[in-house]
Amino acid sequence: MTAAYPNLRLRRTRASNWSRALHRETVLTPADLIWPLFVTEGNGVEEPIASLPGVSRWSADRIADRAREAAGLGIPCLALFPNTQANRRSDDGSEALNPDNLMCRAIKAIKDACGSDIGVLTDVALDPYTSHGQDGLIDAAGYVVNDDTVAVLVDQAINQAEAGADVIAPSDMMDGRVRAIRMALEINGHPNVQIMAYAAKYASAFYGPFRDAVGSGGLLKGDKKSYQMDPANGDEALREVALDLAEGADSVMVKPGLPYLDIVRRVRDRFEVPVFAYQVSGEYAMIEAAAAAGAGERDALVLETLTAFKRAGCSGVLTYHAAHAARLLGA
Ligand code: PBG
Repeated sequence: MTAAYPNLRLRRTRASNWSRALHRETVLTPADLIWPLFVTEGNGVEEPIASLPGVSRWSADRIADRAREAAGLGIPCLALFPNTQANRRSDDGSEALNPDNLMCRAIKAIKDACGSDIGVLTDVALDPYTSHGQDGLIDAAGYVVNDDTVAVLVDQAINQAEAGADVIAPSDMMDGRVRAIRMALEINGHPNVQIMAYAAKYASAFYGPFRDAVGSGGLLKGDKKSYQMDPANGDEALREVALDLAEGADSVMVKPGLPYLDIVRRVRDRFEVPVFAYQVSGEYAMIEAAAAAGAGERDALVLETLTAFKRAGCSGVLTYHAAHAARLLGA
């Protein structure tokens, strides 16, 4: 033994399984997961999505099966996204207001199958319904106009709440939409329908496969930089979060996930409110591609990244790996 040895060895507590378990600071469980699902027309339909290997669009009846699966795995909530038929898309996205649209039928199918055993989160934005792929109404120059869009988003949110949605998640990044939606929910008899605001949503290059999945990718002209945030900005995310909370959001979301964990941590430290993050389609595809190329072990990549979200301060994570992760966690 040398005379000078460390009196503190941080490796000591890492030396065995039992000790690592005892000292683990962050625990991931299936209850931390929200599972995003894509809905398509028809009956008994499963359509694999090429850019999201392992993820499919499901018809409403098959979505109900996924809901039962999620409930069995201990996943508390699903997030729904419709692939609207081309002939139902329009400049003004009015299919979003149809009480019998794909989204509403999927919500009802899940509620019929699972009742209150599983929460249904619905995205509020017009991109799955517009012929131009933007999240709102556009003027002649293609600019997404704020206040007229908010008026439509309010009606979209009420339509989803009437169909049985539990959590309204505005992903459009218009100014003032959380207050307008909160007021309309109260007036229309939905005081317990929550709002999870996509508060800090960035104009990201990681949404590509999602746009394929909902069929808006080929339609989109231009980009979404006039409403989604600049990836270079962090302070501005805190302003967005403060505003959405003041307007009545129950929880806030940061999106995308892994490249923005610094934002999650800042939001959590500043506001001490429930913070969620969305591990988006491009992040999912990146993990799958890395695993397929032999650059990493899939299950380990999935659990490590999801645990990182919790360590950064997330209450939960929206992830396409939700069912797989829940199984790995031994649900
Ligand atoms: C729509 C919306 C998008 C995502 C969720 N809601 C795409 C976009 O803003 O273009 C992306 C999710 C993902 O990539 O997994 N407003």
